[in-house]
Amino acid sequence: MMPRLDQWCMYGLWWLPFSLPLSLYVQYEYPGDNDEEGNPTTRQGKISDAFPNPYPNDEAAKFANNGALPPDLSLVVLGREGEDDYIFSILTGYFDPPEGVEVREGMAYNPYFPGGVIAMPQQLFLDSVEYEDGTPATVSQMAKDVTTFLRWASEPYHDDRKRIGFKVIMVTSVLALVAFYWKRRVWSVLKSRKIVYYSKGS
Ligand code: HEM
Repeated sequence: MMPRLDQWCMYGLWWLPFSLPLSLYVQYEYPGDNDEEGNPTTRQGKISDAFPNPYPNDEAAKFANNGALPPDLSLVVLGREGEDDYIFSILTGYFDPPEGVEVREGMAYNPYFPGGVIAMPQQLFLDSVEYEDGTPATVSQMAKDVTTFLRWASEPYHDDRKRIGFKVIMVTSVLALVAFYWKRRVWSVLKSRKIVYYSKGS
């Protein structure tokens, strides 16, 4: 069966601890408590578990990737200049190297990556996945979806934050008007009084 798009990106999304569909976590086993005889056990994944690291350690990860450590992508959208555009460009930006550019074995030419040569092989190819609703699985369609997902992963509370922020601004502006009116009212006696001094002789 074709992998789903979110499964496809698992390798790059090592420690992504956010709430992907539960089914994704349930597929994985995590170390559990020891049993009565003290033997280690495993348990099924829960939604609060981090993604299991596909490599046992950083050295193994580097060894498998031409010496480059695949980055944690959970906050990558916020962490790179260009944000979503940068990710989209990296995913769609694999080309043959131009004349005069040397690309080592196992590396790829990608002008959007700093230095122009990236250790990550191209991930998305035409029809790499199958969309349930029949959307054509073009590279740019998949890249857009992955990028949008990574944007959500970086800021899962973004929409709620904006929605609450809007309400807070609305309510506080009304309160500010009331406070202003109230202040003018309370102070009006003092502010509008006129103090007149008469000398004793007059
Ligand atoms: C669709 C899923 C994936 C996405 C969205 C993705 C995205 C990215 C991005 C944006 C970078 C650049 C990070 C930076 O600016 O520092 C990167 C680097 C890298 N990725 Fe991926 N990646 C994916 C899958 C994978 C997979 C499956 C592997 C391993 C087989 C991998 C290996 C790497 C490596 C080794 C680097 C570092 C490249 C270097 O330093 O030259 N990625 N990835």
